[in-house]
Amino acid sequence: MSAIIRVDNLTRRYGERTAVDHIAFEVAAGELFGFLGPNGAGKTTTQRILTGVLPPSEGTAHVLDHDMARDPLGAKEHIGVVPEVANPYLEMTGWQNLMLAGELYDMKKTAREERAEKLLRDLGLWDRRADRAKAYSKGMRQRLMLAMALLHQPDILFLDEPTAGLDVMSRRNIHQMVKDLAQSGVTVFYTTHNVEEANVLCDRVAIISEGRLAAVDTPEALKNHFAESQSVQVAFTSPVEPEALSGIPGVTHVEKEGDKLRLFTSDPGRVATEIALLAQRQGLELVSLNTLGPSLEEVFLSITGRGARPREVKQ
Ligand SMILES: Nc1ncnc2c1ncn2[C@@H]1O[C@H](COP(=O)(O)OP(=O)(O)OP(=O)(O)O)[C@@H](O)[C@H]1O
Ligand SMILES: [Mg+2]
Repeated sequence: MSAIIRVDNLTRRYGERTAVDHIAFEVAAGELFGFLGPNGAGKTTTQRILTGVLPPSEGTAHVLDHDMARDPLGAKEHIGVVPEVANPYLEMTGWQNLMLAGELYDMKKTAREERAEKLLRDLGLWDRRADRAKAYSKGMRQRLMLAMALLHQPDILFLDEPTAGLDVMSRRNIHQMVKDLAQSGVTVFYTTHNVEEANVLCDRVAIISEGRLAAVDTPEALKNHFAESQSVQVAFTSPVEPEALSGIPGVTHVEKEGDKLRLFTSDPGRVATEIALLAQRQGLELVSLNTLGPSLEEVFLSITGRGARPREVKQ
């Protein structure tokens, strides 16, 4: 693949603490790449290095073939950044904030005005453009930050938890914008701690935990790779104890979930058949029987909950 972001052996220490610990990955041009990890995993530190804000302690980060520690300026005009903690100028209106961003990028007046209008309309802020940013809600400020990051039509967009703390509508608005951008060929580096967001949005996901990369793959491949978390969920018309089903061949353990029982296995098809046979033998009546694939959340928890030593890092 033609890599537009290349990270090699990247490490960042703050004093004794290693925030990012020898990570390596590549992002292809046009990819919507998720960077998923729990609080304190090293996501923001990584994004700050990738955007030339923070130097690494070791290793390299290349964006569009520019080493971001030595030569960030060559890349900066091609990237847009929504940082983790960011605010527009609160005393200025939304429109003025955008005009200022356009000037900083050296955009011509007509270009920045046209572009600002389109972005404000797309992000649902057009009607509020003459209000000062201090009168904007958190979600509106976040959308304004996104508009400012996109004004100069960057090839790569970096977002650090852009939907944190936003309501469903604002989140959807940002998701749609990000999807449209990826569709139009923009590469997106999307940092999040929200597993479902990574699952529904991203082409590939890197999972970072305690500064280390635990996995990099498509959401589907990640789920399949952790096949032990497949399961069969069953409900009977009368209560059945988990122990009654734990002896079924191929079942690793059984959990009670409300009025249902969940049997964990690497072979859900076989276990489903065995449940049906057992029900027949014992005169039990089935209400429902579902085989459930592993969710990305289970994968995430099994990786990050275990102290996360690297399992398999695929490029
Ligand atoms: N300026 C700093 N000085 C000292 N330690 C820092 C600094 N910035 C980050 N850290 C430490 O580095 C580690 C990674 O922090 P980072 O902000 O990169 O995590 P994160 O994945 O973005 O977390 P969150 O989801 O909470 O935003 C944490 O242990 C944090 O305490
Ligand atoms: Mg962060």
